[in-house]
Amino acid sequence: MSIERTLSIIKPDATRRNLTGAVCSYLEKAGLRIIAQKRTLLTRAQAEDFYDVHSERPFYNDLCIFMSSAPIVVQTLEGDNAIAKNREIMGATNPKNADIGTIRHDFAESIEANSVHGSDSLENAKREINFFFSEIEIVG
Ligand code: CMP
Repeated sequence: MSIERTLSIIKPDATRRNLTGAVCSYLEKAGLRIIAQKRTLLTRAQAEDFYDVHSERPFYNDLCIFMSSAPIVVQTLEGDNAIAKNREIMGATNPKNADIGTIRHDFAESIEANSVHGSDSLENAKREINFFFSEIEIVG
């Protein structure tokens, strides 16, 4: 048993289509607890900062424009193996490759508008949670 925390983002394509509750339901049904949550609208500069690790990638500019195009919902999730479990529930980055029943298979529009983000490692989870939440906002 390894209780972890991970950062989840419900992306602009999903908030635009009023899918926040639907996505939360996938997470909770899989046993993840939403221990912090807020809706926010990133500036372009904030999106660039958050996705800094991808700054050399060809999709970086479009990704930052997309992520600041409409509200997002950011969440801290907690649970056993939360990082891997969340990535399993999200499905592959490209929805064309995502397994049936995953969030991206069921909701994503494209590789960019792929409905959700989830941290990919313990180290990144810490950085990403700290990016959006202060300690007082996280109630485990
Ligand atoms: P995310 O988990 O938020 O991390 C980086 C994001 O870049 C990824 O999900 C995708 O939405 C987006 N992206 C856009 N194009 C690509 C691509 N060709 N390969 C990987 N990620 C991409």
